[in-house]
Amino acid sequence: MKILVVGGGGREHALVWKIAQSSLVETIYCAPGNPGIAELAELVPLGVEDVDGLCAFALEKQIDLTVVGPELPLTLGIADRFKAAGLAIFGPSQAAAQIEGSKGFSKDLMAKYGIPTAAYARFTDRDQAVAYVREQGAPIVIKADGLAAGKGVILAQTLEEAVQAIDEILVDGVFGEAGESLVIEEYLYGEEASFFAFTDGKNILPLASAQDHKQIFDGDKGPNTGGMGAYSPAPVVTDVLYQRIVDEVAQPTIDGMAAEGCPYCGILFIGLMIDGDRIKVLEYNARFGDPEAQPLLSRMKSDLVPVLLDCARGELTTKALEWYDRAAVCVVLAAKGYPGSYPKGDVIEGIDGANALDGVQVFHAGTAARDGRIVTNGGRVLGVTGWGDSVAAAIDKAYEGVSKISWDGMQLRRDIGQKALKRLG
Ligand code: AMP
Ligand code: GLY
Repeated sequence: MKILVVGGGGREHALVWKIAQSSLVETIYCAPGNPGIAELAELVPLGVEDVDGLCAFALEKQIDLTVVGPELPLTLGIADRFKAAGLAIFGPSQAAAQIEGSKGFSKDLMAKYGIPTAAYARFTDRDQAVAYVREQGAPIVIKADGLAAGKGVILAQTLEEAVQAIDEILVDGVFGEAGESLVIEEYLYGEEASFFAFTDGKNILPLASAQDHKQIFDGDKGPNTGGMGAYSPAPVVTDVLYQRIVDEVAQPTIDGMAAEGCPYCGILFIGLMIDGDRIKVLEYNARFGDPEAQPLLSRMKSDLVPVLLDCARGELTTKALEWYDRAAVCVVLAAKGYPGSYPKGDVIEGIDGANALDGVQVFHAGTAARDGRIVTNGGRVLGVTGWGDSVAAAIDKAYEGVSKISWDGMQLRRDIGQKALKRLG
């Protein structure tokens, strides 16, 4: 079988790494990929937004299955385009990808189908939005409706901050079209978890639990990032909560999408806020999480390829996924200045040394090859993933891998997984 993976970050490296272990696979292509992926797949110089180019490539190479990593091509309708051309593709349609692409759409879906989430209201008018936050009080959360490169959520601690955010989004238009309307919602407290389920549009196949670390600094301080590290399993998701997430959130979401006439096929990513036995959905994403994909796929024992194919075909045949009885932890190594502006082109040392360790796999996120060396080429540069018998052992492995790697200005969190350790006592 020939598989094309679309994307070029840590998530896609992990996907390619796992797909490469399948006996069903003959050739893997990745567009645009990265130097880590190049060791396992043939790189194709096409951007993720080049839906026409990707479709033409898949037709020419007679690709059996295309797997989409990031949300952008999904919201551009890559799945519809491929299906119309008779190509199998893993990822939701443009209509279904609205679950990530429009916060208003996803909030209305949850309200309609009784899925637990923060109380909210939608606005396009500045004065009405300001009146609402004055009535509700702070802290309060302001969200641009559309995709805003992870910057569209403002956790306003004061009314002044809330009004400023409304003005920036609705009046100044800092997020362009993505900010033509906004969602204002109740501020939630608790611990976040990431929940994933494969789905054929009707049935779901949930994955193991995971947790990300969104803020840039230790102790969850500083601005939000794409994710500075992740681990699986996440003890905040107890067995009881896991089953409730399946029954009260994941399945009703898929049923609701089908009832709305836009059945959701692919992987559904549910961002949750957990407080004791209370679960609430923060957001949905139409794709795998990054970095969550790295620890999750490191733990997955089942062959991934039949599951991806089933979702693409719209008929899940696998009844349950098998997992290695181990924990996995991914520590993200980022460039200096991230999540703000950062330099590129710094030479990275030690990747091979880290990969030589038993139970360590380095996934490339933002790297490039230059004169036979690997250099930094993004904000999140590498995801060093370690595994072991327990979360504690996996943390040690991941940081042992990290200790081999260096470049000028490398930054990382030193506390990935500590929340799990605290819960496990
Ligand atoms: P989102 O893109 O909607 O997941 O928001 C990004 C991040 O903002 C989340 O991962 C949370 O850390 C935070 N966040 C979003 N909504 C809320 C909320 N209602 N209350 C508190 N924090 C939130
Ligand atoms: N790690 C969070 C995300 O992929 O959006």
